[in-house]
Amino acid sequence: MERTFIMIKPDGVQRNLTGAIILRFEQKGYKLVGMKLLQISRDLAEKHYAEHVGKPFFEGTVSYITSSPVVAMVWEGKNVVSGAREMMGATNPNSAAAGTIRGTYGLDISRNVIHGSDSTASAEREINLYFTPAELIEYSKNVDRWLSE
Ligand code: CDP
Ligand code: MG
Repeated sequence: MERTFIMIKPDGVQRNLTGAIILRFEQKGYKLVGMKLLQISRDLAEKHYAEHVGKPFFEGTVSYITSSPVVAMVWEGKNVVSGAREMMGATNPNSAAAGTIRGTYGLDISRNVIHGSDSTASAEREINLYFTPAELIEYSKNVDRWLSE
């Protein structure tokens, strides 16, 4: 089953949005298979945002993401990578569709509440950056049969 890496960024945690955001993923039907609260190191942030090294927003984004704890999660489900990106909305909350997470909870691209992997390859890379295999739990839920055939 497909998995994706989701992170509630420092602004989301500080603004007490953790529960509301997790609720959306639960209610959609995705399954939580890993979760931790952590303070990201500079080294980990640079690895996470390696594709953006040298861009004008890189330094600001690294200092933002390391400024306060984040909630890192792995969610599982059918087409969860693209589905989670749809739920999150556009990178800039100012243009994210109303009703999406960023559209509902954010105002500015520098404080956009949530991260989600942009492809299955990114998901695999990011999951491995934040979690060991032993920290990801495979389990079944009785509700699974009500979510798909
Ligand atoms: O997070 P997403 O994949 O939607 O966007 P990205 O293009 O991969 O950028 C990564 C992160 O850098 C964004 O989520 C923002 O936190 C930040 N960023 C920014 O602050 N200003 C920009 N112009 C672009 C990105
Ligand atoms: Mg990205």
